[in-house]
Amino acid sequence: MPELHIIENARIVTAEADFNGYLVSEGGRIIEIGEGKAPERGHDFGGDYALPGLVELHTDHLEVHFMPRPKVEWPALPAVLAHDAQVIGSGITTVFDALRVGNDFDEEKFGARMKKLANAVAEAKQAGLTRAEHFLHLRCEIACADVVEEMEPFLTDENLKLVSVMDHTPGQRQFTDVSKWKTYYGGKKHASDAVLDATIEKRQAVWEKYGTVNRLEVVRLCQQHDIAIASHDDATIGHVEEAVRDKMHIAEFPTTVEAAQASHAAGLKVLMGAPNVVRGGSHSGNVSARALAEEGVLDVLSSDYVPQSLLMGAFALRDVPAVGGLAGAIRLVSKNPAEAAGLTDRGAIEAGRRADIIRVTLVDDQPVVRAAWREGKRVA
Ligand SMILES: [Fe+2]
Repeated sequence: MPELHIIENARIVTAEADFNGYLVSEGGRIIEIGEGKAPERGHDFGGDYALPGLVELHTDHLEVHFMPRPKVEWPALPAVLAHDAQVIGSGITTVFDALRVGNDFDEEKFGARMKKLANAVAEAKQAGLTRAEHFLHLRCEIACADVVEEMEPFLTDENLKLVSVMDHTPGQRQFTDVSKWKTYYGGKKHASDAVLDATIEKRQAVWEKYGTVNRLEVVRLCQQHDIAIASHDDATIGHVEEAVRDKMHIAEFPTTVEAAQASHAAGLKVLMGAPNVVRGGSHSGNVSARALAEEGVLDVLSSDYVPQSLLMGAFALRDVPAVGGLAGAIRLVSKNPAEAAGLTDRGAIEAGRRADIIRVTLVDDQPVVRAAWREGKRVA
């Protein structure tokens, strides 16, 4: 594939504005952007959008390919490549694959399987097989006896650039209301009420014993290894104060408006799920992403469990006044997540940044990705 040089006749979306114009890239970087006619003939976008390649910080989608059915483990490398194909097809040129560590007392250990997947990501990347650039996001469940032990083997993986600190204990955060935990977990496990009550008691005892010490140790290890940290499911001002104290960068999925407002005001990037925008609300009954966008406190969208939702969610929010038009909506899925994770070389159509570009058209008002380039090379 020839390297991208000039894009002409495009609706260019920069971090600040959108206009009809052209873009010039060289050596994988953007060198010039302009309105109107290009200086010479190039790749004709036919009026389609030229957007920065999307940046995804939290996708659970890799696990779906690795474990396509309960107890079925697919070979790791093909699983990574199948995931990569869907990711790039959704316009995502930089992706943080979320892997979970920390086991419930009633589950088999996940860590070794997750490491196998992390190794496959590294191998695919090394061999130049992936079309998006992949990094790892390690999701650490702190109210588990083994979370620190399971986290340690990942700390030397150079792809690990983000860690989130989670606590899904019934009675905490996402599950402040214990009945919500019962509905969620009971539905997943088909368990009786008595079994669920016994589980709640056990999990709360584990939380008492390990919750605080594990949180502190996970945070310490991230700081020591210079890894960005995300707080998860903050519900109260107290949770936000803890996140600020622990020098976290991102507030993932705050469950209340007040926690989101406090996080945003404190300089944390508030991340919400794009499926929440597409579906019109949270699947677990918490605050909606659109409501936070209307309040002007939404910074980042994440595709969570449906890669395609990232671009759909951004376009769906472009009419929310506080978002700042299409440029502001696209920032939620490009510049903001890139910079929140410390990647300042990409995420915007701007001279000097990487030529990670996607061509997007609207069909029935839904965005469709027609092509993608990473560092100037066509990848989809
Ligand atoms: Fe959660």
